[in-house]
Amino acid sequence: MHSLNGRKIVVASHNAGKLREFSDLMAPFGFEAKSAKDYGLPEPEETGATFEENAYIKAFAAARATGLPALSDDSGLCVDALDGAPGVYTANWAEKEDGSRDFGMAMQRTEVAMQQVGATEPAQRSGRFVAVICLAFPDGEAEYYRGEVEGRLVWPPRGDLGFGYDPVFLPGGHDKTFGEMSAQEKHGWKPGEPDALSHRARAFQKFAEARLGTE
Ligand code: IMP
Repeated sequence: MHSLNGRKIVVASHNAGKLREFSDLMAPFGFEAKSAKDYGLPEPEETGATFEENAYIKAFAAARATGLPALSDDSGLCVDALDGAPGVYTANWAEKEDGSRDFGMAMQRTEVAMQQVGATEPAQRSGRFVAVICLAFPDGEAEYYRGEVEGRLVWPPRGDLGFGYDPVFLPGGHDKTFGEMSAQEKHGWKPGEPDALSHRARAFQKFAEARLGTE
């Protein structure tokens, strides 16, 4: 197994929201974390059919291009009433014709799709955020850490914190959406503390326990 002793890692993402969350999560560990964007790397096309495949495409492309270990995250929102959609296509649902992304539109699209299948009662609006973190090395070796958080979708959107679909996601057992939570509340975790809350922090917690020696 390759080591991370060099404490230099590339975060294989161009997504500002994810980069901010990774830098929060990694801050306690003394890593020099630069993003794929800092290295001027192009965004690879996500052609996989699973979160794991897309996470590997991103992490391996960054590791090969920089010669450093790379950490990626492929994530999405899976709505039960929509048979798991938008799932791996969560970012695509936000794409406009000019190529830019509009998450207000994406949340609306998800809501319209749920209304069309009659998912109007809270009990019919369950779903989860999923994040798969891939750690890949320049020779192609890779490992995966998956985090999920169960919850339900609310309408209208609530809160303007976080990013993406955060304002419509109410995690189970909480009365604030992710869009109403501070970053610290949304992650719900730092080293030495019990369980993480968000899908990304749960995946990161597994990575940290396996690779950074923290419980
Ligand atoms: P991808 O992993 O680049 O394919 O993009 C995943 C998409 O899922 C992002 O563009 C976000 O819209 C959405 N997403 C993933 N994680 C979160 C989150 O923590 N909050 C809100 N939206 C998220």
